Amino acid sequence: MAKIVGAITTSHVPAIGGAIARNLRTDPYWKPFFDGFAPVHAWLGKVRPDVAVIFYNDHGLNFFLDKMPTFAVGAAPQYTNADEGWGIPTLPPVAGDPHFSWHLIEKLVGEEFDVTTCQEMLIDHACTIPMALLWPTGGAWPVSIVPVCINTVQHPLPSAARCFKLGEAVGRAIQSYDADKRVVVIGTGGLSHQLDGQRAGFINKKFDLEFMEKLPTDPLWATRYSIGELVEQTGTQGIELLMWLAARAALGGAAKTVHSNYHIPISNTAAGLMLMERMAA
Ligand code: DHB
Ligand code: FE
Repeated sequence: MAKIVGAITTSHVPAIGGAIARNLRTDPYWKPFFDGFAPVHAWLGKVRPDVAVIFYNDHGLNFFLDKMPTFAVGAAPQYTNADEGWGIPTLPPVAGDPHFSWHLIEKLVGEEFDVTTCQEMLIDHACTIPMALLWPTGGAWPVSIVPVCINTVQHPLPSAARCFKLGEAVGRAIQSYDADKRVVVIGTGGLSHQLDGQRAGFINKKFDLEFMEKLPTDPLWATRYSIGELVEQTGTQGIELLMWLAARAALGGAAKTVHSNYHIPISNTAAGLMLMERMAA
């Protein structure tokens, strides 16, 4: 059966792609951020996942305001990146795993999550930046992916509690897949940031650190906040922390933090990173 080896949650700021392209990893601005990934690289080298199930939010590359699914699951043989206008290089395509995708979709629809199924799907910086951060191989990706997209762009957004339940269902679906696969669950977005409006530049370190502290041990903590309250606490784009909740829920049970990093700011964003594992029963 497929096994979930752990969960990784990270921010996905586009400027990181520029820093990688210009080889600025050891630059004073970037070093505290990139250094955070070394323990995660060591962990990935040890557990060697075959597949990454990635909770992410599209920012207008694949879905636009005219058609906006609340939850969408990729079922493509390959996922292609495209220029979003950030002035950063596009990254090589990532292999999909359609058989695994359809298993997840069957299970999710069976559990009354009426997801949109995508046999073609462009992936934006919310997928490619974390891929480049986790596997700095220049695009020779050692994993195939199943992208799970959650709308954080056009309100109404799914509640934190609903995203948590989706994550739990994805976790159950992964573990019911009859194939010998090691699966890492990834959640990308957040932490606090707001790119527009009167509060542009808003960051809430106190809330972010409490969120990170609660995520492994009291994962339902954040589900007690409404979407409006989470936007107030974390900013209009900080709401991307819903991806962290879904990834944590997929991991299931009692969990522990293996590694974490928090650095402000990267561009306009409080950059967070966590690696969590299930506690031994
Ligand atoms: C930034 C952060 C994001 O999450 C994003 O999707 C785009 C830009 C930023 O801080 O620049
Ligand atoms: Fe974003």
